Parts: sequence; C-alpha cells; structure tokens
Amino acid sequence: MKIVVASDHGGFDLKESLRLYLKELGYEVLDLGCYDHNSVDYPDYGRLAGERVIEENCLGLVVCGTGIGISLAANKVKGVRAALCSEEYSATMARRHNNANILALGGRTTGVDLAKSILDAFLKADFEGGRHERRVNKIIDIEEGR
Ligand code: RB5
Repeated sequence: MKIVVASDHGGFDLKESLRLYLKELGYEVLDLGCYDHNSVDYPDYGRLAGERVIEENCLGLVVCGTGIGISLAANKVKGVRAALCSEEYSATMARRHNNANILALGGRTTGVDLAKSILDAFLKADFEGGRHERRVNKIIDIEEGR
C-alpha cells in the first residue's frame, strides 16, 4: 500500500522518523519533501500531498510544527479529508467515521513514540460507511457547492 508523506521544516524530523517507520512496516512511501531543515512554506507541502493523495487514491501523512497549517492547506484540495490528531482514538475515528484520507501530526507537539502509535491507529482502521457515508457525503456537497 502506498502512503504519501510531506512536511515543512517544523515537521521534518517527525516526518523522517515516520517515513522510516512506514518503510519498516512494508509500506511504499512517496516522500514529497521537504528534505532538510531549511525554512519552507507549509501550504506548498500540504497542497502537494493533498493533490497526490487524490491522484493516487491512497492515504497520506502531513506534518508541520503543530500540524495545523499543513492540514488546513491539504483540506483545500478537493476530495481531501485531513485529520489533525494528537491521540490514537481520534485517529481511529477519523478513518472509521470521517473517512479521512490524510493524517496530520504536529512535529513540535507530538513525540515520536506517540506519533507512531497514532499512525498505527489511523492505518489499522477502516471506514464504516452506513450513516457515516451519508454524513461524509454532506461534507462533499459543501465542497461541490451543492
Ligand atoms: C513554521 O514555523 C510553523 O508555523 C509551521 O510548521 C506550522 O506549525 C504551521 O501551522
């Protein structure tokens, strides 16, 4: 399974740790940058990741200092549902109920061990459909201007 990953400089270290972790777990990782600590703009990476997740119809991981800016940017891409999570339960529910396709984490707010555990929860859970599908479709209606 392919996972798109991206971060700004504030999320670079955590993204690197999680990129290696995902590879260890056997995922195919598509790393869209950034590739060092030089200062960059998080909207560029949120957008890149969002567009690629939609193109590849896969899941993504985005990281900035807080996870806020990069998730806001990713969520502007049509079809993206990026969920900023700071604990495992929300990550599970983001998949089960919200059919989130991107997990956002804060590199300056979330330690590596907790981040791995949140990522595990996100990847393990599946969308439940049913009444949740109706609700997610209402989010899509907003996006489509219906
Ligand atoms: C960069 O300093 C920081 O603003 C960014 O990583 C992120 O936290 C924005 O939401």
